[in-house]
Amino acid sequence: MHTRVLRNTPRNLATLAHALRRGQLVAVPSETVYGLACLATDAAACEQVFAAKGRPRTDPLIVHVHSMAQARTLAVWNDTAQRLAKRFWPGPLTLVLPKTELVPDMATADLPSVAIRMPAHPVFRALLKTLNAPLAAPSANPFGYISPTTSEHVKKGLGGRIPYILEGGDCERGLESTILDARTPERISLLRAGAITLENIAKCLGHAPLRTTTPPPQEKDVAAVAPGMLTKHYSPRTAIELHETIPAEIPPTDAALYFQRRGEAEGKGSPNQFYLTEQGALEHAARNLFARLHALDDGTWTRIHVEMAPCDTGLGLAINDRLRRAASRG
Ligand code: TXA
Ligand code: MG
Repeated sequence: MHTRVLRNTPRNLATLAHALRRGQLVAVPSETVYGLACLATDAAACEQVFAAKGRPRTDPLIVHVHSMAQARTLAVWNDTAQRLAKRFWPGPLTLVLPKTELVPDMATADLPSVAIRMPAHPVFRALLKTLNAPLAAPSANPFGYISPTTSEHVKKGLGGRIPYILEGGDCERGLESTILDARTPERISLLRAGAITLENIAKCLGHAPLRTTTPPPQEKDVAAVAPGMLTKHYSPRTAIELHETIPAEIPPTDAALYFQRRGEAEGKGSPNQFYLTEQGALEHAARNLFARLHALDDGTWTRIHVEMAPCDTGLGLAINDRLRRAASRG
């Protein structure tokens, strides 16, 4: 199959909306990572998404909406969930809520709940508006591999397996959305750390969300309830080793990915030294993380040594979560 990369023009959006209505797949840009989208209400199209990614059927998809009105047709809302949506949408927060009959079981891996978010990326929003229907979309990478933050990453991973990629430039946040289980208002819990920090969620809720790795008792399928909780995920093919401080002496065939750019002298003449951020800002590190891992994995390095973010607070939590999973052999 030939994969076409289309720019954001009204004509192309109409073409893509038409393709989606016919059950085809389209990779779309979002502010977090690129997603592999299909019509959320089309079970057969959802099945194709799992097939194209090589994703286990037990790992449910996120449904993306253009409006709150659309979100109301897909899930059963409570006041706390509405407050969170009001504060963070459009944006990188995903809410898990009881689903309605509009959502096929294929999209949610047979769970009675659905994960919903309203993306902020203008190109994604334009497509959702043209289509006037919700889109199910997991990240647009082969299952388990590094998430895509450019259309080139999508092409590298899924080219030849999907008909269309909608071009939307580099993803601004660079990390997936934060996922909250919002089904029980007094027990809002974090399912995946992401682009919205726990601190900001706590401010909105008036208290910190629960952080539990134990699935809610009513759900049998642990793997499916624990999103992105598979230990090994986001992984390059090249071996990754995590460090608080990368040892000074590493072989020249290994790459060192520092959190922050080091002093001039240290960097000079060391073609195997890279960094996530120039000044140390977590937002910059988050934005660059997957792109750096893609670039290093495309090289011929024997091993990639990565320096962790200095703290597990703010975006440091999500960055270090992704790094731990990328390095996991399990
Ligand atoms: O930023 C993002 O969230 C990106 C963009 C494209 O929106 N999407 C993304 O999707 O990261 P994906 O498939 O890579 O991760 C979605 C996670 C899955 O690991 C899945 O387990 C979880 O969301 N999820 C989906 N539906 C769920 C549900 N009903 N209950 C619990 N977790 C759910
Ligand atoms: Mg993913």
